[in-house]
Amino acid sequence: MSERVLVTSALPYANGPIHFGHIVGAYLPADVYVRFRRMLGDDVHYVCGTDEHGVAITLKAEQAGQSYESYVDHWHAVIRDSLARLGIEFDCFTGTAHHRNPYHRELAQQFFLDLQANGYLAERTEEQFYSERSQRFLPDRYVEGTCYHCGHEKARGDECPSCGRFLDARRLKDPRSTIDGSVPVLKATTHWYLDLARARDEWLRAWFESKGADWKPNVRNFVLGDLDELRERAITRDLPWGVPVPAPGSDGKVLYVWFDAPIGYLSISRQYWEARGEPARFEEFWKSADTKLFHFIGKDNITFHAVVFPAMLRGTGAGWILPENVPANEFFNLEGRKFNTSSGWFVPAESVADDPTDALRYALCTMMPETADSEWTWEEYRSRVNDDLADNLGNFATRTLRFVERFFDAAIPALGELTPADRELFDTAEAARDELVGHLHAFRFRQACRALTALGNACNRYYDQAEPWLKVKDDAQRPRAAQVMRVCAEMIGSIAVLSAPVMPATSATLLRALGHVGAPPRFDAIGAAAAQTGRLLPVGAVVGAPLTAAFPKFTDDQGREKSALFLKIAEERVKKELERLRTRADHPVATAPATSAAPAAAIEPLAPGIEFDAFAAVDMRAGTIVAADRHPRADRLLVLSVDLGFETRTICAGVAAAYTPDELIGRRVIAVANLAARKLRGIESCGMLLATDDAEGKPRFLAPDPATPNGARVS
Ligand code: MF3
Ligand code: ZN
Repeated sequence: MSERVLVTSALPYANGPIHFGHIVGAYLPADVYVRFRRMLGDDVHYVCGTDEHGVAITLKAEQAGQSYESYVDHWHAVIRDSLARLGIEFDCFTGTAHHRNPYHRELAQQFFLDLQANGYLAERTEEQFYSERSQRFLPDRYVEGTCYHCGHEKARGDECPSCGRFLDARRLKDPRSTIDGSVPVLKATTHWYLDLARARDEWLRAWFESKGADWKPNVRNFVLGDLDELRERAITRDLPWGVPVPAPGSDGKVLYVWFDAPIGYLSISRQYWEARGEPARFEEFWKSADTKLFHFIGKDNITFHAVVFPAMLRGTGAGWILPENVPANEFFNLEGRKFNTSSGWFVPAESVADDPTDALRYALCTMMPETADSEWTWEEYRSRVNDDLADNLGNFATRTLRFVERFFDAAIPALGELTPADRELFDTAEAARDELVGHLHAFRFRQACRALTALGNACNRYYDQAEPWLKVKDDAQRPRAAQVMRVCAEMIGSIAVLSAPVMPATSATLLRALGHVGAPPRFDAIGAAAAQTGRLLPVGAVVGAPLTAAFPKFTDDQGREKSALFLKIAEERVKKELERLRTRADHPVATAPATSAAPAAAIEPLAPGIEFDAFAAVDMRAGTIVAADRHPRADRLLVLSVDLGFETRTICAGVAAAYTPDELIGRRVIAVANLAARKLRGIESCGMLLATDDAEGKPRFLAPDPATPNGARVS
């Protein structure tokens, strides 16, 4: 029976890139699950988008000197592209900002009003730190001071890193704002609080105890712990960016990002069905008791999805459904350390630019932190690709299809009588299918991958024991070789079907190799009965299939063109990646500008990060200007002669607005010395001088230390 299924992945914050840790936590498992449920014939819809409010985004946009909208637009696009790179296919990917999603604001406000009408919100006025310099209230974590428990001088308003205790920011000694360095004052402000304990006592605990009984143990235990310690939570903030609080006199107040973000699942669904011209389906899905709702998330989001959001959904009394399951993953690390983009500890897109998406998807699925933390290591990646994909599945498909090309004129022989060995292999394939289906239903992605490779092993064993290479040369035994090839081709079909959720492109390639066009892969195409009724391949010979011509083309290390299902990864690659990782971690590129008290709007946004190599390729030298003239044909330019120690060269610089030629004679400068020469209005300029703009926007030269001689390299 076809089920109505709604799948969501945690909405990623639009304030930075996403890395493999995020992918493996919330996006890849959801995408695999969606593909799997579609193969079962269910009516599945998968929605996601960026989480675009909150204090972190507000501050980062201000520091970058950008509007909130353009700041989140930038990261929205970056994130969307990284997800697409991993083959994550949403039915709709928008976000929570008003300019991206016109339904969000209204829906989030309606939640607030419904909860208020049902008595779930308490309104209270309390004192909170306020920065007069920035004219804003300070969230607790942006206040620093001395811990009143242990005396640690750099305690954060919400928590002390030294003694680990939760703090009441108002009691910190010597408080300072970490946003602008000022000493904040206490000021009264009104906020709304969600009464979670009431929801728990009235129905939430009972709901969770029945519903959550078969959830993953890591999630269940986490939630049970949470339920005992529920506190009421403030669901509003004083901020200039977010969903305005729908209450009289609440100017300058918005809904807390964690309140509005999960409502994004609904508002994005609404936008999706509106865009498809089926607006009624929004409520049909979100209000029918028989819709199965799944939230795929990382460990740090469990409380919000399994406790707070259900409390919100039901608290409205509007009839929204609650999740069927919240299959959260644990943490995913990289080579023994936490992923951390700003300190260089991540896998950059360039590192995997040439890797097939399916190889990455498969390897990530085998490493998934399903029940405990796990990690990406390059060595493990290499093993999974080489052992499982190239040597096992790839080898089986390739040896079979090349054999058919060579000895049977590329026509897959007709299906004949099954021997016990043939039948056993078909049974193995059916068992592998049942296992894989069971694992995917239970979100056991690692084991699903294992069921697939176990079938690959069985196929290779069957091939070896059948020895078709001997039989094909003996007329009496040639029919047996033909039948073995046919069975192996059927198995390639089975592998294609079982690969489809995790490796959709590979699945399609394999089906194309068999000449199978048309209907999508189906689980009931596997097994002897299916083969005998021609459910995947026609029972007769298959002529004119592309066979290995369907395989992807690669360029190997030596630059040779190859066609292969998967290419192996060389040991040197692992070494190289580890070196790059370490180098990057030693020379991290900040992704966010540091907080500073300077007027924010003047600071240009940071350029995308580069590898150390890119920096090292730029040869910069200390020099002295020995002659200077106006450019005869460009008012902006001065023509300078610069002594670089080993030679004196002509460099044109656009600094006429800041300097007269005379005042530059004898001035020390830093030149980019290996820049390609360029003609500027008729005069050849050989290099560039480093400069920064002053407060009025006029360029000013950078100078080396007086102790450095001309020609010294900047490093
Ligand atoms: N942006 C949050 C994070 O990255 C996740 C929000 S999930 C939602 O941790 F449900 F609130 F949208
Ligand atoms: Zn302390």
